[in-house]
Amino acid sequence: MGNFLADKVVAVTGAGRGIGRAVALAAAAEGARVVVNDYGVSVDGGSPTSDVADAVVKEILAAGGDAVAVAEDISTMAGGQRVVDTALSSYGRLDGVVCVAGILRERMLFNMSEEEWDPVLATHLKGTFTVFRAASAVMRKQGSGTLIGFTSGNHQGSVSQANYSAAKGGIISLVRSAALGLHKYGVSANAVAPVARTRMSANVPMELKEIGEPEDVAALVVYLLSARARDEGITGQVYTIAGPKIAVWAQPRELRAAYAEGAGWTPERIADFLPGTVGVDPMPMLEQLEAMARAASEKARPNE
Ligand SMILES: NC(=O)c1ccc[n+]([C@@H]2O[C@H](COP(=O)([O-])OP(=O)(O)OC[C@H]3O[C@@H](n4cnc5c(N)ncnc54)[C@H](O)[C@@H]3O)[C@@H](O)[C@H]2O)c1
Repeated sequence: MGNFLADKVVAVTGAGRGIGRAVALAAAAEGARVVVNDYGVSVDGGSPTSDVADAVVKEILAAGGDAVAVAEDISTMAGGQRVVDTALSSYGRLDGVVCVAGILRERMLFNMSEEEWDPVLATHLKGTFTVFRAASAVMRKQGSGTLIGFTSGNHQGSVSQANYSAAKGGIISLVRSAALGLHKYGVSANAVAPVARTRMSANVPMELKEIGEPEDVAALVVYLLSARARDEGITGQVYTIAGPKIAVWAQPRELRAAYAEGAGWTPERIADFLPGTVGVDPMPMLEQLEAMARAASEKARPNE
């Protein structure tokens, strides 16, 4: 056991499986008392069971750590509040929340139903809001704390998971808003975009070239929760961790601006002005898709 998180109280959502479980175990091993939240659902969000959260609490207790289970659905305000209230009633404080819970309902945009859109947004984006909302009220009074959201490289866009991509983009903006709004209260907020072998990543239809284990992601989260990260002033950041790679994502900013002489834009003036001045910023993922399509059509072509 290390002491990176000695005396800290950390709540982790989606902590029953995959990355969340690894985060809960690693935080406990580094001295944190842990609220283990998991609704215990299938990858698409169905068939909840409390066994999943209970099993991780047992693992932590067996290893000599301290943890308590909350098998609530964090997509509800009451669920998010319960996670935070359990930290306070069990341990008297809350130093970090890590919102890992997530589900997938994959469908092309033109076929996607409301039943595929709403629960995905509710679990990822609202499920981060419900916990951040309750936790930030406590941390603001405490004058310290760390909020961590889970996003994905897919926040850039996704062919068949527009719901998931939109939720993950929203989480980045929520994290940056939390970083801005809570900075003066000594509270930091960051996001992690992991790539790790779990039941969720097993569903990705293409081969992932860079991938690691949930324990790699857990090590980054423990660091972000620690005094070492606070002392570095790390807030408002998005980090990817994928096996041996750690990367920081750029802050969104205007890429190029151009100013026209005189007042009053018309579509005609813009058509003449925009292409040669501000132009476009090519989408890396679209370029990848086009390269994959070219490679597939070359493979399909009979030998000449
Ligand atoms: N595995 C990857 O490579 C990868 C890549 C990008 C992003 N992510 C993100 O990392 C996070 C963890 O993913 P994972 O691969 O460990 O998935 P996972 O399916 O193994 O675990 C997700 C856990 O969240 C729980 N959960 C789902 N809905 C919940 C709810 N409403 N309330 C409480 N718990 C709920 C599930 O029961 C499950 O135990 C997710 O947010 C995912 O989008 C993962």
